[in-house]
Amino acid sequence: MLKINDLTVEVEDKIIINNLNLNIKEGEIHVLMGPNGTGKSTICKVLLHHPDYKITNGSIIFDNEDITNLDTASISKKGIFLLNQNPIEVEGVTNAELLRIALSEKTNTHINIFDFNKKLNEVCEIINLPKSFVHRDINFNMSGGEKKKNELLHIFMLEPKFIILDEIDSGLDIDALKIVGDSLAKYYAKYNPAILIVTHHSDILKYFDNYQVHIMKDGKIIKDGDNELVKEIETKGYRTTGVVNNE
Ligand SMILES: Nc1ncnc2c1ncn2[C@@H]1O[C@H](COP(=O)(O)OP(=O)(O)O)[C@@H](O)[C@H]1O
Ligand SMILES: [Mg+2]
Repeated sequence: MLKINDLTVEVEDKIIINNLNLNIKEGEIHVLMGPNGTGKSTICKVLLHHPDYKITNGSIIFDNEDITNLDTASISKKGIFLLNQNPIEVEGVTNAELLRIALSEKTNTHINIFDFNKKLNEVCEIINLPKSFVHRDINFNMSGGEKKKNELLHIFMLEPKFIILDEIDSGLDIDALKIVGDSLAKYYAKYNPAILIVTHHSDILKYFDNYQVHIMKDGKIIKDGDNELVKEIETKGYRTTGVVNNE
């Protein structure tokens, strides 16, 4: 479904992603871990063609189509959703306004307002978000945890088939983590999307049965594994597992 081939990315003439390869098939869950500053968020943003980053080598293929140079809106319409590590606040545009336009653009049809509102209410129930959030400006003046749930609202409404979650679990209290985890598990069971999860902790992974793990360092994937590797890193850290050398 998604193939990243020999991808090299630069920002301000500095190489941040260095010849990275990753292959994610339909319905698969992949976990990206690694120390701070190794390029995890960069790869997430590059998949949506963030303009700050320059791809100097390699390609990104999605559903057999080369999307390396495609604009962000077109990539998103293909069904790729990025939940940013720090979700962007958009003052002056409400969730309902954006979602209605985005859905209509994506499906190329008129959105029936009755069905739309009904689904918004159902999703608010699932993710335990007050219904008033539907008419709030996107992520504006929301707490960290509220922003993550607000992004989940967008996921449930837009029904992406490939979801990138960049540290969705950071800054969540225990109850919020459970709601987010349960909601994601429900979404996965219903729509079977492919998911790329960037995380430092195993807590969010408990909501998924099967996943492949990749450890990143200096813009490269340097080790692959499964939940055993996550456990090892969680107890011993990156340095002592030999994944990352003592420097
Ligand atoms: N827009 C940018 N301008 C300059 N440097 C950047 C930019 N984005 C990322 N970087 C640098 O690239 C490296 C990787 O960042 P990032 O992808 O955010 O790491 P991670 O998510 O793994 O913690 C860091 O050294 C960071 O400072
Ligand atoms: Mg990051």
